[in-house]
Amino acid sequence: MNILGINAYHGNASAAIVCDGMLIAAVEEERFNRVKYAAGFPAQAIRYCLKEAGLTLSDIDHVAVPRNPYARLGTKLFYALRMPSFAQARVKVLAKFTGIPEALAAAFDADPKKINAKFHRIEHHKAHLASAFFVSSFERAALLSADGLGDFASTMWGFGMGNRMEIDGAIPFPHSLGLYYTAVTQYLGFLKFGDEYKVMGLAAYGQPEQLDAFRDIVRFESRSNGNGFRLGLDYFSHHRTGPEMSWAESDKTPVLGKVFSDEMVKRLGPVRAPEETLEDRHRNLACSLQGRLEEVYLGMLKKLAKRSGLKAVCLAGGVAFNCVANGKIFDSTPFEQVYVHPAAGDAGLAVGAAYYVWHQKLGKPRSFVMDHAYWGPGYSREEILQAIGSSGLAQDGYCIPEMKEILNRRIKHRESFRPFAPSILAENTAEYFEKSHPSPFMTLAYGVRPEKRDKIPAPTHADGTGRLQTVTREANPSYHALISAFRDLTGVPVVLNTSFNDNEPIVCRPEEAIDCFLRTQMDALVLGDFLILRP
Ligand SMILES: [Fe+2]
Repeated sequence: MNILGINAYHGNASAAIVCDGMLIAAVEEERFNRVKYAAGFPAQAIRYCLKEAGLTLSDIDHVAVPRNPYARLGTKLFYALRMPSFAQARVKVLAKFTGIPEALAAAFDADPKKINAKFHRIEHHKAHLASAFFVSSFERAALLSADGLGDFASTMWGFGMGNRMEIDGAIPFPHSLGLYYTAVTQYLGFLKFGDEYKVMGLAAYGQPEQLDAFRDIVRFESRSNGNGFRLGLDYFSHHRTGPEMSWAESDKTPVLGKVFSDEMVKRLGPVRAPEETLEDRHRNLACSLQGRLEEVYLGMLKKLAKRSGLKAVCLAGGVAFNCVANGKIFDSTPFEQVYVHPAAGDAGLAVGAAYYVWHQKLGKPRSFVMDHAYWGPGYSREEILQAIGSSGLAQDGYCIPEMKEILNRRIKHRESFRPFAPSILAENTAEYFEKSHPSPFMTLAYGVRPEKRDKIPAPTHADGTGRLQTVTREANPSYHALISAFRDLTGVPVVLNTSFNDNEPIVCRPEEAIDCFLRTQMDALVLGDFLILRP
């Protein structure tokens, strides 16, 4: 049985394909259309997934879409009556979603009548929860999804048992930990969609001087089955202006409107313009923002642990990308095991919706664990050779490079306060870090042991933590062998890991890898089995 998951008309558009319970492929549209966080319809991602599975559109039995425009209709209606422009936007969204079968047929130039699949609309946060639990190794786990907003909710939690999930509570619009973080991120002058991680990095340089103000901006409150929080809405504007994400049809870049209000400026002081120098005041605000997020997020997890009596937790939603908060789960809550979906943001919804259909709707047993994140395109030796040939590099031969300050050059392309991350041989984790629970997807930050900080200064952040990737031989034999060779040479089982891109989506095709290599003046590029040195 073949299930296609499609996250469409939303940031991080993506597709995934699950055949008889096994994940075969999953990829974001941005890797193909080269627009970061691309929204719209993920036609190229779907095409790739079908090709990888050796299927055509007519072989698909179920299509799972992680959005249900009919969820939380009461709340939507309430806000639609207060905001006519918002009501109009909802109508447009509804039209797009009900048109997904037609969009799919059009993208493949197929007759809609030839698509045999049954279409399922899965509520946004249920798809997030499914993306984490159903592909984890846990038989039973507590579940939490937290993000900006999806299907008019920002947070949902519940329990997973075998092939079933049970929802225990949810927090509807406008209260949202994701929008709380977005509001302050915008206020601090980081205006691009997805910039929250930069502010999380900045927080390590500050002091939580303004924690009391942030305790007023987001407040603990029992909302649903004894758990939850509430925003101090005076500090926000999204509940007055409408929450919908929009994107330019021309370039598919998602855009969120202004989320903070004048009241926030009155309370926290003048807004920082993007070009303005970062001062201690900004660093302290970032630190206070992060501190309050941790109090609320970890507080909710603590209650969830108590209510469930479980030792394992699965996390998804954009807030679950907060590796600093995630790293504190072990010391701050009774949970002993954590699984965060590698695409915890909305890209992972395609996988989650597909598995929701397979288990929750069709009742199939669990048989798959997602223990690596390598589900996107790879390229053959021939394709790589062709790309090297047409770049002109081959004709020049592979010369001995001069050593250059490659990383320094690269650092200049991004904010200097942003940390790099360490990849460590999984078996050496406890020697270098204060925790040793696996972190294969870089979704957890642990303290670096003080005596090891001078051994790995580059990927140790200002607060002494590292957002580590634990690498096992089983998940990635080549990378494991590379780090082992580095350890044999230096005694250090750690290399620095940074995404292969330069202010663009991560490179996908060999041509893009070569282009980035030449643009950024790296010294060497390993592409498949080829080593390319700068001519
Ligand atoms: Fe989401």
